[in-house]
Amino acid sequence: MKGAETTAASVDVQWLSSCGHLRLGSDAVHVWRACLDQSPLQLNNFQNTLDDDERSRARRFYFSRDRQRFIAARGILRSLLAGYLGTVPNSISFIYGTHGKPALAAECGADAIQFNLAHSHGTALYALTRGRGIGVDLEFIRCDLKVEQIAGQFFSHSEIIALGALPPSVREYAFFLCWTRKEAYIKARGEGLSIPLDQFDVSLIPGEPAALLNTQPDSDEAFRWSLLNLTPACGYAAALAVEGRDWTPSFWQWPRHVIER
Ligand SMILES: CC(C)(COP(=O)(O)OP(=O)(O)OC[C@H]1O[C@@H](n2cnc3c(N)ncnc32)[C@H](O)[C@@H]1OP(=O)(O)O)[C@@H](O)C(=O)NCCC(=O)NCCS
Repeated sequence: MKGAETTAASVDVQWLSSCGHLRLGSDAVHVWRACLDQSPLQLNNFQNTLDDDERSRARRFYFSRDRQRFIAARGILRSLLAGYLGTVPNSISFIYGTHGKPALAAECGADAIQFNLAHSHGTALYALTRGRGIGVDLEFIRCDLKVEQIAGQFFSHSEIIALGALPPSVREYAFFLCWTRKEAYIKARGEGLSIPLDQFDVSLIPGEPAALLNTQPDSDEAFRWSLLNLTPACGYAAALAVEGRDWTPSFWQWPRHVIER
């Protein structure tokens, strides 16, 4: 990974507005931030771009706010992909991996763009690149979690020790740093929870760079992936996992809304 935005301490970046043609170079990673609370008109436009499977998923949400955010998340995904591919949003087709990771279908140029998305509390992050695995995770930082208990259940031995050694005032934030880094990595791999969460270690100390420290049983995995801490908005933790190290991130704001949280 190149550029100035490579450490946890230095990713308080400017989210740029897009204009014109979207171009993704071979060593580029574009991260898009979007607000999922869209106007009824925009939602209607997004809904018209979804396929049957997405519409059927949307209908299954119990709460209308969740349904609308799903429609917005998929509508924005389609619009972004169409912008890079030079096509229209409703022509995009997805395929899904064994554990549910979406990817472009062969007819869209399956190898053209790899992407991943995450959404939490009305905000979404989209990460796009070419020719390398990618995963992103985003969590709204909740104050009602028993973080030590959850860490004891899901984190690795080293992570539990590192978390416990931190002052209580930063432990909750560190928990979310750890959680989003672990999740971004398993989302990049696309294998879901078939990767045991306690079989790899990530960094979690606030202010230190995001890193995949150890992986078992294959220690080479730790060298194959790089992690980046993201700060999409106040009150959120987020992380990006990308295959390889020779990539440059840039950060973009979905144009229709400015996030002020
Ligand atoms: C589904 C999963 C990918 C994450 O779910 P989540 O955190 O609820 O949701 P996120 O917002 O991060 O991501 C959802 C998006 O990831 C994508 N996705 C789905 N399955 C995926 C997979 N196996 N790999 C990568 N991405 C996936 C989809 O685009 C999905 O969005 P959609 O609504 O458009 O379908 C899965 O990893 C999971 O359930 N993890 C368990 C959570 C956990 O225990 N984490 C412990 C961390 S310490």
